[in-house]
Amino acid sequence: MTKPLISVEALAKRYPKRGGGETTVFEDIWLPIHPGEFVCLIGHSGCGKTTILNVLAGLDRPTDGAVIVDGREISGPSLDRAVIFQGHSLLPWMTALENVAFAVSSRHPEWSREKVREHCRFYLNLVHLSGAEDKKPSELSGGMKQRVGIARALAIEPKMLLMDEPFSALDALTRGSLQDEVRRICTETRQTVFMITHDIDEAMLLADRIVLMTNGPQAKIAEVVENTLPPDRRPATMHKHPNYYPLRNHLLDFLVTRSKTFAQDIAGKPYDPRKVPVVRPVPAEALAAV
Ligand SMILES: Nc1ncnc2c1ncn2[C@@H]1O[C@H](COP(=O)(O)OP(=O)(O)OP(=O)(O)O)[C@@H](O)[C@H]1O
Ligand SMILES: [Mg+2]
Repeated sequence: MTKPLISVEALAKRYPKRGGGETTVFEDIWLPIHPGEFVCLIGHSGCGKTTILNVLAGLDRPTDGAVIVDGREISGPSLDRAVIFQGHSLLPWMTALENVAFAVSSRHPEWSREKVREHCRFYLNLVHLSGAEDKKPSELSGGMKQRVGIARALAIEPKMLLMDEPFSALDALTRGSLQDEVRRICTETRQTVFMITHDIDEAMLLADRIVLMTNGPQAKIAEVVENTLPPDRRPATMHKHPNYYPLRNHLLDFLVTRSKTFAQDIAGKPYDPRKVPVVRPVPAEALAAV
């Protein structure tokens, strides 16, 4: 196995409780992310997913533990880790191209204006926005704005892309086509990605590994699920694969039941947060044939 690009080690977040004491949102989170991997984090609302992503981005500090990159603890934001938020977070007075160019010029202050613009055009084209370069965010649809956000994040060519439910505000059709594009781009460029989602199908389409987080407080990583669908999976056809339902049912069962009962389930049993179980859901017949 290659060396992790980024390593989450013993991460915990606690807040003081009103009236004394403290609440532990999550604790003992360990997660290595390897170069070129697409990792999705799934868990119920409030378990601490955004907090973990913000710590990875350097926008928040953990109470305990650390995120290690290149052997060093991260101490703040970096252009090596680009974030795509749920909302598009574009600057409203700038055009699509200028929004991307603003980020690219911060990354490459030595580049000429024309070189920056050419670089931006390449990434806007990649997300199929070539005709909309000179439009301001108010003139773009929700899906187009989110595409500009994606182009901006990709254009700085980060070592790691961090996405917090990037498609959740979009209608189903736009979401489907954008997910397909993001998968194509990330696969082609071997982009390392950490993404949060509530959507099981989205995780199954995009992720190589799906990390399951239990409900808070004291949320933990229960297990890591390997995606058993083939690498050439597409949104319109992946449900026909024999591994689709075993994988989907496993994830759904976790969200519906095991995310709540995990603490009781492991009581008295060994649980090592550094080595959580890795599961590969396949049809029962396939298991029987082994
Ligand atoms: N300043 C604060 N004081 C106390 N608790 C806080 C504070 N900020 C966040 N929290 C708690 O931390 C927990 C984790 O929040 P976070 O936004 O990371 O959850 P999430 O898993 O991303 O949820 P969602 O799926 O709804 O986006 C929440 O339960 C929230 O109530
Ligand atoms: Mg969140």
